[in-house]
Amino acid sequence: MKFFIDTANIDEIRHAHELGILAGVTTNPSLVAKENVSFHDRLREITSLVSGSVSAEVIATDAEGMIAEGEELAKIAPNITIKVPMTPEGLKAVKVFSEKGIKTNVTLIFSANQALLAARAGATYVSPFLGRLDDIGHNGLDLIETIANIFAIHDIETEIIAASIRHPQHVTEAALKGAHIATVPYNVLMQLFKHPLTDQGIEKFLADWNKANQK
Ligand code: E4P
Repeated sequence: MKFFIDTANIDEIRHAHELGILAGVTTNPSLVAKENVSFHDRLREITSLVSGSVSAEVIATDAEGMIAEGEELAKIAPNITIKVPMTPEGLKAVKVFSEKGIKTNVTLIFSANQALLAARAGATYVSPFLGRLDDIGHNGLDLIETIANIFAIHDIETEIIAASIRHPQHVTEAALKGAHIATVPYNVLMQLFKHPLTDQGIEKFLADWNKANQK
């Protein structure tokens, strides 16, 4: 499973990139709104740093509008992926993008049938939202597993992005259930590095080293 970061914050993206584990970035309108910057300028900044997929979401709700917006976004850089909502109009747009060789990420996936429809429309990625399903008492990880099984049975190449990740356990479980990618908020990404025994181990090694070198 690869790591994407789920943010539009350039400092967070830069740091994740420096850590050497970053395969891509996902943004959404709520994340971009927090940044108070021009969307296109921010996408230029991100794509100049990151060579992997950078998802940029369309705002239009009709296929024609999504296609027009997506084509403009795709001109920003070759690694822009157009993020499209899981609606009939969204899938019409996905079909057109896929015929033009423009990558797509179908977002707001909450069922296996939605994922299958998106894949058949030609989506490069589907994004099932784990955390939001858990919030309403469903099991987001079960959905990842079901989609991964269906895609394996039918040889579907669309990649599964585990999205709406809330904690490190989601990451481990998403990897086990067969997600190809987890898009992780910065705070969760940083938590993945931590283990108290690692910190204690470093402290002990340094203390022993210093003791030995004082003799
Ligand atoms: C995915 O691409 C979305 O941006 C994201 O994971 C949504 O997560 P949230 O439910 O924490 O808003």
